[in-house]
Amino acid sequence: MYNPFTLEGKLIIVTGASSGIGRQCAIDCSKMGAIVVLIARNEERLRETLSLMECPEKHSYYSVDLLQIDQVKSLVDAIVSEHGKIDAYVHAAGIEKTLPLKLLSSDDYKSVFTVNALSAFEFIRYFSNRKYFNDGGRMVLISSILSVVGRGGVSAYAASKGAMVSAVKSMALELAQKKICINCISPGTIRTPLMERFLSSLSEEEYKKRISGFPLGLGEVTDVSQACLFLLSDASRWITGQNIVVDGGYTAQ
Ligand SMILES: NC(=O)c1ccc[n+]([C@@H]2O[C@H](COP(=O)([O-])OP(=O)(O)OC[C@H]3O[C@@H](n4cnc5c(N)ncnc54)[C@H](O)[C@@H]3O)[C@@H](O)[C@H]2O)c1
Repeated sequence: MYNPFTLEGKLIIVTGASSGIGRQCAIDCSKMGAIVVLIARNEERLRETLSLMECPEKHSYYSVDLLQIDQVKSLVDAIVSEHGKIDAYVHAAGIEKTLPLKLLSSDDYKSVFTVNALSAFEFIRYFSNRKYFNDGGRMVLISSILSVVGRGGVSAYAASKGAMVSAVKSMALELAQKKICINCISPGTIRTPLMERFLSSLSEEEYKKRISGFPLGLGEVTDVSQACLFLLSDASRWITGQNIVVDGGYTAQ
């Protein structure tokens, strides 16, 4: 059957796979036939993700704290020696710190940058080497609409997400010689467990204001994971260095 979106037999790493968007990306990749290596901190929740995937026995997980960025090299070595060369990488691990500017310290910027952007850049550094990553592979970094629009209280987060969007443009140009495509996805507000907790802490008025910004309503994790499947598949072979905004029309206004 004609299926330009298949990921049959591809070895795909997904960070942030224990929850929300990363978990759904891992599940959907497994449904498209990929072999998935899950990375996040919490082992129990990683096992829970595995149990939700197609053919759980085909996949594996590594419990890692990406704040410890110097562990990335040994992690990549371990994955490649166990599973072989990697075909695709999805970076969905991320943290957010909401603080007014006067309380936002350089340590806050550093921790948010490390998990959201620098750890991804470190993976990509190794993946730019043919020893680790197959030619024609795909990389997808989950950024945020806060890379392109502002919101009070999230400067460190927004800066880290903006860094991803600008970095992939230059990375794409270097990786093109190996036919590797790298892109960002910038979601608007997505109903993940973390986001649901935040939304339930808002007053009715704040909640209504937040929702009203999204002409198509709030997003679901599958809205992001399905855009991710497209960028991982051969169907997107001529798209690189881009930021695909998935936001129900938020930034169209
Ligand atoms: N939910 C939204 O509305 C939304 C909107 C725009 C962008 N995003 C981005 O999408 C990504 C996923 O968000 P989510 O809502 O699913 O969040 P989530 O909190 O449900 O999941 C975050 C994932 O990142 C992992 N993670 C966090 N810190 C880590 C660390 N130090 N080491 C290893 N793993 C770590 C967690 O283990 C978890 O698996 C994030 O990058 C987030 O910034 C989310």
